[in-house]
Amino acid sequence: MSKDVIIACDFNGKNELYAFLDQFTEEKPFLKIGMELFYAEGPEIVRELKARGHKIFLDLKLHDIPNTVKKAMSVLSNLDVDMCNVHAGGTIAMMEAALEGLTRPDGTRPILIAVTQLTSTSEERMQQDLWIEKPLDAVVMHYASNTKKAGLDGVVCSPLEAGKVKEVCGNAFLTITPGVRFADGDKGDQVRITTPEKARELGSDYIVVGRPITQAADPVAAYRRCISEFIGGEKA
Ligand code: C5P
Repeated sequence: MSKDVIIACDFNGKNELYAFLDQFTEEKPFLKIGMELFYAEGPEIVRELKARGHKIFLDLKLHDIPNTVKKAMSVLSNLDVDMCNVHAGGTIAMMEAALEGLTRPDGTRPILIAVTQLTSTSEERMQQDLWIEKPLDAVVMHYASNTKKAGLDGVVCSPLEAGKVKEVCGNAFLTITPGVRFADGDKGDQVRITTPEKARELGSDYIVVGRPITQAADPVAAYRRCISEFIGGEKA
């Protein structure tokens, strides 16, 4: 399992995205494309980025009836994304269907991970709005364990939860962790943050980093710093 830094490309459109990417003349970073960019530009954006040599995490967080998710996943698999995701709250049956839809006739498939509870959901809102009465951290671990049962590869979580997720689901179960900031950097609106180095120590497999790279005065230098703090000399 190779660790990597995934850049969250939270841009409004293609022009901004390419102005950013054109600064990378030597590396082909792993990119996260979210709903905004995908809905604005359509699947062509994924084809173009793949043709440029990037790996793509398509962050669409599917949550629907199993049959619909299965069919949608089959479309994403044909798009040749490298990683995609669903909400674990869609149930084990939905996650199993997602995996089935994603798996190609030759048995290969993109990495499939799940969102447990969104970090924007507080324990209070979860209990009052959703009537889920257990403590938030117990719910997160239960959803992670359901994700493992369904056969998915891992979950999105805080680096601070990565160790516990590995305890519950095993070391091979992937943790993809946003909320990463440089020790001397701006936190922005993130609250529970760690540095790339700390994320590595805590067992993250992939860190998702947006603004510390995209808004940096020198994005390429910021990306290289992330790689070197998170992976050290491991990435060729
Ligand atoms: O700019 P920043 O590094 O905060 O970007 C983090 C990325 O990870 C954003 O695309 C954000 O939507 C995403 N994310 C997150 N927290 C989660 C799940 C996803 O910050 N729990």
